[in-house]
Amino acid sequence: MEYDVAFVGLGYVGLSSAVCFADRGINVLGIEIDSKKLNMIKKSNSPIHEKNINELLQKSIKKKKLSFSKELKDVTKTKIIFLTVGTPSRKDGSIDLKYINQATKDIAIAIKNIQEYFVIVVKSTVVPGTALKIVKNLERYSGKKNSIDFGVVVNPEFLQEGNAINDSLKPDKIVLGINSEKDKKIMFNLFKKIYRKNLPIVYTTPSNAELIKYANNSLLATKISFMNYIARIAEQIPDGDVEEIKNAIGMDKRISESFLNAGLGFGGSCFPKDVKALIAFSKEMNINSDILQSVLTINDTQFMSVFDILKKELGSLQGKKISILGLSFKPETDDIRDAISLKIIKKLLDKKATIRVYDPIANDNVRDIFGKSISYASNSESCIKGSECCIIVTEWKEFKNIKPKDFTRLMKRPLIIDGRRIFSKKKFNKLEYHAIGLG
Ligand code: UGA
Repeated sequence: MEYDVAFVGLGYVGLSSAVCFADRGINVLGIEIDSKKLNMIKKSNSPIHEKNINELLQKSIKKKKLSFSKELKDVTKTKIIFLTVGTPSRKDGSIDLKYINQATKDIAIAIKNIQEYFVIVVKSTVVPGTALKIVKNLERYSGKKNSIDFGVVVNPEFLQEGNAINDSLKPDKIVLGINSEKDKKIMFNLFKKIYRKNLPIVYTTPSNAELIKYANNSLLATKISFMNYIARIAEQIPDGDVEEIKNAIGMDKRISESFLNAGLGFGGSCFPKDVKALIAFSKEMNINSDILQSVLTINDTQFMSVFDILKKELGSLQGKKISILGLSFKPETDDIRDAISLKIIKKLLDKKATIRVYDPIANDNVRDIFGKSISYASNSESCIKGSECCIIVTEWKEFKNIKPKDFTRLMKRPLIIDGRRIFSKKKFNKLEYHAIGLG
């Protein structure tokens, strides 16, 4: 075999994992059918923005640990095939398996006449029962038998955008949904080479592994919406401050302090999609998911608190100069999928405000959507200059260095809406400072 593993689909998960496996000495074949994307990757110019990814790409390609192909039939050059294609949302929130189904069929056809035992590892996020469907399709199109000629393993991914390399190299846990001792051994031997000691592997069944991924993301999303709900209460009580509530409850080990930050809501390509998919999946089984429906409702309406403040402070927004700091769905990424900034800009445009935005790396992505209807600044100073209100939408580190006196000096009116609680309320009390969860 020419390679140890192949990754089918070089999106966020596929590319980050491929690069990290290669860096740990594994011979990796990356398969991507999108030529434009593949050409960028081959030139060590990653289509996703992640710290160190280009350096790692360059190093692994040079060391010949990472190679690429556009052809799915090349999966036969390895025995372990990771499926890392996308599972987008359908209109009703359920996941669309078209890319999984196509890749499965192509893999089945490719391995049909090859006398080798293949392990197909499902890393894409899929609802429980999908691995079973994949098994059936592999049998149908290859004529081979599950557990005898091939095995299917579910290995969900938990990396966070903006920290993908670090998360891939040092995962909190590796979940392996496995049906046979044979597959367990193959996967253990692979992961042992990558992570050496301290392997935090959780062995379970494929269906449980599929559900673990949704439970993980949905619980994190629930924590955020819960804190946004508490923030709404804190805003209505004298001296209320959600940060103080967070600090205290976060000390309880049963709760833990992470993912308790109230703000303008969660965005990105995972939480909204995965919560919706779990709701749709529950519906098929007649299971009530009001709990997750509320998580979405809170999230969908959370950004409106900005408009409550704007209405109170500025009245009509027509012609008012509003500046926005931060556009990406979270810091350290240029990803604007389901970003809260987009909702805010749309509504401000409806209200005919004059909008100027700045993000350290996501300006161009937002320009692709809003074009000339808004203006783009190349730094935070020029963004807030002359504005009548500044809204902090993403908590980029560099924004934390802006001083109260900078706002007073540059803005026409120093009205701040801190959507991510990045400033100290004490230091900002001389300004017109409003913040999520602050009464
Ligand atoms: C999330 C999960 O954290 C990963 O474990 C998972 O692998 C990934 O989805 C996925 O399924 O692919 P990601 O979407 O990259 O990762 O970003 P997060 O850091 O989880 O943040 C998601 C959103 O929640 C962001 O908009 C962030 O601003 C918001 N957030 C996060 C809060 O509003 N408050 C918090 O306390 C934490």
